[in-house]
Amino acid sequence: MCGIIGYVGNKSAVQILLDGLIRLEYRGYDSAGIATLADSQFHVLRRVGRVESLINAAGEADMAGHVGIGHTRWATHGVVSEKNAHPHQSFHGLFSITHNGVVENYESIKEFLLARGFTFESETDSEILANLIEYHFNKETDSENRFLKSVQKALFHVRGTYGLAILCRDCADEMVVARKSSPLLIGVGEGEMFVASDVSAIARYTHDIVYLNDGEIARLTPADFSITTLRNESVDVVKCELDWQIEDADRSGYEHYMLKEIFEQPRALENAMRGRFSDDLSTARFGGLRMTIRELRQVDRILFCACGTAWIACLVAEYLIEKYARIPVEVEYASEFRYKNSPLDKNTLVFVISQSGETLDTMAALQEAKRKGFRTLAITNVVGSTIARESDGGIYQHSGPEIGVASTKAFTAQICVAAMLALYLGRIRDMSFEEGVLFVQALHDLPNVVERVLAQKDSIEKIAEKYAHHNDMLFLGRQEMFPIALEGALKLKEISYMHSEGYPAAEMKHGPIALVSEKCPCFFLAPQRSILQKNIANIQEVRSRRAKVIAVATVGSELGEKFVDDLIPIPEVHPALQPIVATIPVQLFAYYVAKFRGCDIDKPRNLAKSVTVE
Ligand code: G6P
Repeated sequence: MCGIIGYVGNKSAVQILLDGLIRLEYRGYDSAGIATLADSQFHVLRRVGRVESLINAAGEADMAGHVGIGHTRWATHGVVSEKNAHPHQSFHGLFSITHNGVVENYESIKEFLLARGFTFESETDSEILANLIEYHFNKETDSENRFLKSVQKALFHVRGTYGLAILCRDCADEMVVARKSSPLLIGVGEGEMFVASDVSAIARYTHDIVYLNDGEIARLTPADFSITTLRNESVDVVKCELDWQIEDADRSGYEHYMLKEIFEQPRALENAMRGRFSDDLSTARFGGLRMTIRELRQVDRILFCACGTAWIACLVAEYLIEKYARIPVEVEYASEFRYKNSPLDKNTLVFVISQSGETLDTMAALQEAKRKGFRTLAITNVVGSTIARESDGGIYQHSGPEIGVASTKAFTAQICVAAMLALYLGRIRDMSFEEGVLFVQALHDLPNVVERVLAQKDSIEKIAEKYAHHNDMLFLGRQEMFPIALEGALKLKEISYMHSEGYPAAEMKHGPIALVSEKCPCFFLAPQRSILQKNIANIQEVRSRRAKVIAVATVGSELGEKFVDDLIPIPEVHPALQPIVATIPVQLFAYYVAKFRGCDIDKPRNLAKSVTVE
């Protein structure tokens, strides 16, 4: 959602803050701001719009200081305006804060403060926090720890979520940070400390990272940091070494991160598979499941929970695990599961999928399942993320940083992991050695196959140009292509704002066919030979209603140009891997449609990369 960066050290803070905000902009981009502290004075600069306008303004501003905080905002409380942008100052100017998350009881805190003479400049819940801290600071008697203690006391009264970076005018060279259900990490440098909501903001300065846990609060000075709980209990500090380079998070000459990430997929798939095959190459293996084979055999049902594109990856996992491991699978939106109190069989294994590992609803679904005593596993991309740490075990995707808001390489890597999981669970049940070997071979060849589909980028671009002027589109597919139809529709609407829906191809007759006309083209995902005739029949149905048809079909299949207006051929692969291969054309199609429509592809309107509010 929003992004936070903070610095205490011996360098000028402003450049570090602005650089961090550029890297965080994919987290939220309706307004941005920075505050530095020098000579007991805050210098604050806030702008509506992109970080670029803040950078331009900073060029003319006097922003001295070796201590500072910065923020990119995705509005929750209050419209997008300069006043509502962070950092927020407390009423008497003692504190400057940046806040990610939502203060649920902000109205009662506001009333409390109004009654004590505080006034407010913005409509945000975050400004209330700055004032509540100031209120406690004025009453605090422990002069040594006055700053930290006043934040601790204020946070006791807060219901909701927060990632916070706070400066105090009277405490130069010091910053206090805290977290509850909103990611925050400390970067440890030499004679300098960083704080960020996302490691990409500070990766160029340090690889020594300490992830804060919920309920922890830290005090940072240039030389040191200390972490306690809100109740001042001591905390064991665990340092992690960041395992990627800052270049991984650059655009490397691509026009957009999304395009770069689409083209990174062969490498991301290799990384998802690396070291994960058995010596006899007949099955997969995973180091982090923390379950014995015996325990896995006792699993009677698997429940997958996630949000957004990761939820669609769960749907693919459902098809694959049911087909190859013969274990019944259910898929739930994490936001629904967390409040639903679903009855679950006692031998249910709960899996969550989350690229960021920070999506609030997914995290809450995981906690709900844990609370009820279920074993929870996670497929995540971000090492050390909250979901990765809170689950009982899991599988890292190793896709590298994904910056484009619309998920691409993380999605195909999630499916790849799901396919390997289906193979692994199948092989400890009733899948034969021979089937396993063929499966592993297909996985091994997958990056090459994906490379071949990527090579069709120019022809997909031409097709996209033909359809970019439309207002509606249907994506249709059967079986494991149904989730890919959903993903095609999701990608298209996310980044091009063209209305699009994904449907099971036959189900289309129960409603969406009413939309079908020459104005509503249909995109069919139809590579499966076994149900080819069924798909062809559905294609005829929409064509007879004058709809143009684009189809993804297997090279050499009967579904040729005579049935469709535009054909995107994909190589023949193991059926388990067709969803991955068929995803590439829908990603490229959405990308080029968005480009022809002049959209801001990496920062689509109203969306955020990681949704850390409910
Ligand atoms: C947001 C992003 C999506 C992503 C979803 C879940 O909506 O824009 O691309 O699929 O969150 O995110 P996660 O990090 O949990 O996979």
